[in-house]
Amino acid sequence: MKQDMIVIIDLGSEENSRLAREIRALGVYSEIYPHDITLAELKANQNIKGVILNGGPNNVVDGEEINVKEEIYSLGVPFVAYDFPKALCEKGDESNLKSWLFNVCKAEANWNMANFVADQVELLRKQIGDKKVLLALSGGVDSSVVAALLIKAVGKNVTCVHVNHGLLRKGEPEQVINVFGKELDADLVYVDAVDRFLNKLEGVTDPEQKRKIIGAEFIRVFEEEARKLEGIDFLGQGTIYPDIVESGTKTGKAVKAHHNVGGLPDDLKFELVEPLKYLFKDEVRACGKELGLPDNMVYRQPFPGPGLGVRCLGAITRDRLEAVRESDAILREEFDNAGLRGKVWQYFTLIPDVKSVGVRDNARSFEWPVIIRAVNTIDAMTASIEPLPYDLLAKITARILSEVKGVNRVLYDITPKPTGTIEWE
Ligand code: XMP
Repeated sequence: MKQDMIVIIDLGSEENSRLAREIRALGVYSEIYPHDITLAELKANQNIKGVILNGGPNNVVDGEEINVKEEIYSLGVPFVAYDFPKALCEKGDESNLKSWLFNVCKAEANWNMANFVADQVELLRKQIGDKKVLLALSGGVDSSVVAALLIKAVGKNVTCVHVNHGLLRKGEPEQVINVFGKELDADLVYVDAVDRFLNKLEGVTDPEQKRKIIGAEFIRVFEEEARKLEGIDFLGQGTIYPDIVESGTKTGKAVKAHHNVGGLPDDLKFELVEPLKYLFKDEVRACGKELGLPDNMVYRQPFPGPGLGVRCLGAITRDRLEAVRESDAILREEFDNAGLRGKVWQYFTLIPDVKSVGVRDNARSFEWPVIIRAVNTIDAMTASIEPLPYDLLAKITARILSEVKGVNRVLYDITPKPTGTIEWE
């Protein structure tokens, strides 16, 4: 790491992540550490230019007020007392923060994605050498960016495994094959596990059971692929900073041990490679852009792990799943045409396991409804409805009714969260 760094020590603040992002937005890299960090641990990083002791309401743990170890004050860089920067952030007055960073700490504004990528490539080459890395590549933002970084660093020494469980959106497996297999010329193993997943899911109606089956089957398929490959030492993972930083700490431990998505059996022990673990989500996207990944991969909306499986309500059937996939593709295309991509947090279609009577070609029809959902949220804990223009709804409806087989109605869900969750299952 060649970039200057500001250390934020968590003394019970709820604003650690926000402060780190503000400092990074000013071009200076920053990381968050727990209060009991030692001088030796800090000294291991040569680039620390200043330390912020960030206090707040969660500064009492087990009845005792937490504090830093006295020894760290001899680090030889400027320290700033707690609550000072938080108060600045609250006032929105960053020019003081700026002056501390650049005049007092003499930090250089050299935090940018080109430098990050160059650093990571060097680090990954050092860490991996000529050994081999395995990566589960879902096509989501995080795994795609990890894949692109690893490919840039160690080329064919990374093997990407893309499991198509049949519950991906239209065009997604093809895009993974095109971008990684063809354009980036990666060592890509494409696993068509569609039948396997759909057979396992046949007749299963309970949403949590569906999730469990999809998750467990995914591990099984990935494990089988891992066993076929020889001499793998590392497992790449798309862990990002919010996964390891607790916002609003109650324990005073800002950085907590995180659980990897693992689940692999004990005899398949790999060392983890997590090149994104210090990035926030927007930085992961910027890194993907820097690596030349396409916009619709880098800026794609959140998509649940169980995919369309929780949008084809009740027991999944192939015809209804296809109708969900097609209607979702139409919805996304029309959102793109209306300039709404990136402006609405999450939008998709779903199909309940119920049919209604209609007319088609002068005859009675008995077909499914498609439900449109479009929501905005900050943290997915609560969500509000995106008020879609009527013309857009009418256009999407007309296209779905004429292009999607087995559908005779389109409904628009205007339920906020609470009381509805974002997904229906
Ligand atoms: P809910 O439906 O709980 O969704 O309001 C909140 C956010 O989480 C996503 N979601 C999931 N993501 N696995 C995931 O990786 C899941 O099982 C899952 N269920 C919901 C949902 O799409 C929304 O963004």
